[in-house]
Amino acid sequence: MKNSAMEKTRKFLTPALVFHTGISVKKARGIYVEGADGRKYMDFASGLATLSLGHCHPAVVRAASAQLRKFIHSGCIFHYGAVGDLAERLADKTPAGMDMFFFSNSGAEAIEGAIKLARFSTGRQWVLAFTGGFHGRTTGALSLTTSAARYRKNYHPLLPSVLYAPYPYCFRCPFSNNPATCSMECFGYLEWMLEHIATPDEVACAVIEPVLGEGGYVVPPPEYLRKLRKLCDRFHILLVMDEVQTGFGRTGRWFASEHSGVRPDIMVMAKAMASGLPLGAIASTRKIMKGWPPGAHGTTFGGNPVACAAASAVIGVIEKQGLVENSRKVGEYAMARLKSLKEKHPCIGDVRGAGLMIGVEFVKKDGRTPDAVVLKRLMKECEKRGLIIVECGRHKNVARFMPPLIIKEKEMEKALSIFEDSLDGADV
Ligand SMILES: Cc1ncc(COP(=O)(O)O)c(C=O)c1O
Repeated sequence: MKNSAMEKTRKFLTPALVFHTGISVKKARGIYVEGADGRKYMDFASGLATLSLGHCHPAVVRAASAQLRKFIHSGCIFHYGAVGDLAERLADKTPAGMDMFFFSNSGAEAIEGAIKLARFSTGRQWVLAFTGGFHGRTTGALSLTTSAARYRKNYHPLLPSVLYAPYPYCFRCPFSNNPATCSMECFGYLEWMLEHIATPDEVACAVIEPVLGEGGYVVPPPEYLRKLRKLCDRFHILLVMDEVQTGFGRTGRWFASEHSGVRPDIMVMAKAMASGLPLGAIASTRKIMKGWPPGAHGTTFGGNPVACAAASAVIGVIEKQGLVENSRKVGEYAMARLKSLKEKHPCIGDVRGAGLMIGVEFVKKDGRTPDAVVLKRLMKECEKRGLIIVECGRHKNVARFMPPLIIKEKEMEKALSIFEDSLDGADV
């Protein structure tokens, strides 16, 4: 049957699940996907920033296959090497002292656990979140998610006792300030909330993405994160960094929080960890983790041996092939070229990012009004030419560049040429 994968998906899967393209996969390797019709695409979506080593990396396939033949599932009944080996390797990459873990299956699940850990550890209930943030779709994680109101619609009441501070999205400053001259009114608003809505000694944690993902690929001023760290220290609030999208080299550092030098108390990761196998983790200090007694949290599938073996292989390949450095270098090249495109195309309002996490924000002629229509047309043109790009942002007007970290500069060059041709093709 022609394109039966898509037909069956449409027939049997809930329409709530949105597929970004109409392409059915025949096979995929590295940064390339071959469609059922034989067409080949460069995959700059990476399964939503997940395929750190690209599709079916031989080291991942080898490690997962070997583990599949040995031991597939524990459910915390038996001890097994794969999870301890991963924890040991991961402790070498997380900030010093953050060397105890809880493994989950996804980002949202890890966020849920992090909220519980922070509440348990502090005995406080309030959670501080940031507007534009995306932390997942389960009820607790969704309570912190404000990247778009439509994700929350019809699910109220969500978790109570959540405060929302404006994320420092300078291109669209909620206070209409100029980032060059502002005095961080967005941070002032956060402090104001702690005077009017909840006293700081009732706040368990602040949960923030060190670079906004789904909310628009926004890099905050490092000073904002430093101020947040200071505020958390002052009031003994735990700082939770959601590195689900930014972790594992995506931004040109192992973890994006390193750019500002801010050390979290709890770190959450997932996506790129196992380059496509489902895995997430909460990392924290021994002091915090040791205050979480047996049975206070748990999981059946989390820390699956096959996913853990794959994640250890991912760390090995990232190290051996210098992929964090590659992310930084190829990202810098892409950023420079995209910035020069901005000069030629007034529909590009902003180019921003770090490493291989780059957002290109599209605007109307006035240079401000979000333009999702033009981006949609452009993504279609890219797809026609063999490049898959997906969007983000509340207005769906930000193109996100998030290719696998194995991408070579020549491949980036080709992708950007396609992007440039597509801008002409889309007549913008
Ligand atoms: C920053 C961030 N946190 C959490 C999540 C939720 O992860 P998952 O989809 O694995 O539940 C996402 C997913 O896009 C994310 O980008």
